[in-house]
Amino acid sequence: QDRVPLTNTTSSIPKLGFGVYQLYGQSCQKAVLDALQAGYRHIDSAQLYRNEADVGAAIQQSPIQREDIFITTKIRQSAGSPDKSYRSCVESIEKVGGKDGYVDLLLIHIPGTGRESREELWGVLERLHAEGRARAIGVSNYRPQHIEEMKEYAKVWPPHVNQVELHPWCQQREIVQYCEDKSIVLAAYSPLSCGDHLNDPTLGAIADKYDKSPAQILIRFALQKNWVPLPKSGNPDRIKQNANVFDFALDEGDMKTLDGLDRGKAGALFPANVK
Ligand code: A2P
Repeated sequence: QDRVPLTNTTSSIPKLGFGVYQLYGQSCQKAVLDALQAGYRHIDSAQLYRNEADVGAAIQQSPIQREDIFITTKIRQSAGSPDKSYRSCVESIEKVGGKDGYVDLLLIHIPGTGRESREELWGVLERLHAEGRARAIGVSNYRPQHIEEMKEYAKVWPPHVNQVELHPWCQQREIVQYCEDKSIVLAAYSPLSCGDHLNDPTLGAIADKYDKSPAQILIRFALQKNWVPLPKSGNPDRIKQNANVFDFALDEGDMKTLDGLDRGKAGALFPANVK
């Protein structure tokens, strides 16, 4: 599968990822194994999802080599001090990446409320990056002001990735433009709008035209925006379907039509994270 280089690192990120939010235990393990079999090489987990160990177990069981899989996890918040936060990250890294293992990407999950906590966490991520335990480091739900603020304390800047909510109904143009200007890779969470708009008639007409499903059109839309979509599914057929998006392309007119669906913050599923 195609990959996108991560600026200022030696790594690259597979263009399509697999989201595991709200998948737990055996069903999470099975979904990750199904996804790897369907061709995904990029799994997106988080401390908050409470399934890091399941993701790690699935990767261990899979015949695919660890080096061929791109694993992301996210740190939720400061554990109280830099040392505690460091240990919390190492625990997460070992859950998904195995003992003495690494993650391909470690993110700060949300900017939270205070600069102090952002600064502390970024320092911890920089240390793990220098130690090789996080091959790339980044942020999630950051707005331009948070990334600009990082300049005051960051040794690694810009962050390699910013993961935000992105789909036609929530296009966050300001942060998208900002990240493009700085060569920060945008990862798109909830690229299927959590399923909310799959019956949209405009989307349906485009799906019919290409003989694809609405979900496949949404994933293709994200890919053509140069976003890294992270669709989630617990269903083996839909997992496969969502990976089957590299044999067609939306034309400019259809991209424009989908562009026109943007509703800004009103279209967000997680409006607290959107300007
Ligand atoms: P399921 O897990 O039963 O497949 P998002 O990635 O935007 O968070 O959306 C995830 C939601 O979309 C889940 O409810 C998932 O349900 C559903 N979903 C995932 N893929 C498809 C698909 N190809 N067709 C219809 N619904 C899908």
